[in-house]
Amino acid sequence: MSENPGTAIVTGAARGIGKGIVERLAGEGYYVVAVDRLDAVHEVAADLKARGARIDAEVLDIRDRNVISTMMDRYAPIDVIVNNAAITGTFHFEELTEDEFREAFDINTVGTFVVAQEGARRMRNGGRIVNIASRSFAGAPQMAHYVASKTAVVGLTRAMAIDLSPRDIRVNAVAPGVVDTDMLRYMTPERQELMLSLQLLGRIGQPEDIARAVSFLASSENRYITGQVLIVDGGRSLGQGQLPPEESPYA
Ligand SMILES: NC(=O)c1ccc[n+]([C@@H]2O[C@H](COP(=O)([O-])OP(=O)(O)OC[C@H]3O[C@@H](n4cnc5c(N)ncnc54)[C@H](O)[C@@H]3O)[C@@H](O)[C@H]2O)c1
Repeated sequence: MSENPGTAIVTGAARGIGKGIVERLAGEGYYVVAVDRLDAVHEVAADLKARGARIDAEVLDIRDRNVISTMMDRYAPIDVIVNNAAITGTFHFEELTEDEFREAFDINTVGTFVVAQEGARRMRNGGRIVNIASRSFAGAPQMAHYVASKTAVVGLTRAMAIDLSPRDIRVNAVAPGVVDTDMLRYMTPERQELMLSLQLLGRIGQPEDIARAVSFLASSENRYITGQVLIVDGGRSLGQGQLPPEESPYA
């Protein structure tokens, strides 16, 4: 990685996966702009700055195009955008309200679109955009609003990869499986136990597992990958789960 890989905007950076991505990119020498609607993003930035990182924090809501546009002007030209901010939750399909469905789209899909568009307008040719989707785009129970909004993020990623290709901007998505963050609070302990039993590698992911994949797709080393979805789920999508030791062919 070069001394100055450029400026990276990361949304949803106050905690969880976004915080992990910010730590990773700051460690790689990017000038990082950590964005979140929570004030806690200031602490994330202050902590990293104290350790020598080049980083600023911005408190804003990704639904507010005017505020995003002004912010992007301040940091242009931009090299990398990571669209990570999102909301989730579980609802029985029959009880999911239209407001809840629309809110998921408003933040997860439209918010991603707005940040990507305002960023792309101020991005150097050859920049990279990484959208955080979710393995659940392939389906997950009691999350119709979330699954639909993340499937739309996959579609948006593919469409942006086509439309921004004349400028050599590479656009990809990372689709995490279950990752150890506050977002897991929506799961009952029973559901968490079940999820763990489905993990081929025997553990749920950590934010840095996702950050490593984002780092590669965001780097200038990624010269020829665009419009792709990288599932980072420890093999969960292979549908096997872990064999009990007595059933393992290697036991
Ligand atoms: N944790 C998982 O198991 C998991 C699995 C698959 C995908 N993901 C995806 O990874 C990303 C990060 O998830 P996480 O687990 O770290 O979640 P999290 O809830 O811990 O963090 C999300 C962050 O986004 C911010 N945010 C939400 N709405 C915002 C808005 N309107 N404007 C600005 N900031 C906003 C929140 O304040 C929060 O800091 C999300 O896109 C999520 O859908 C997570």
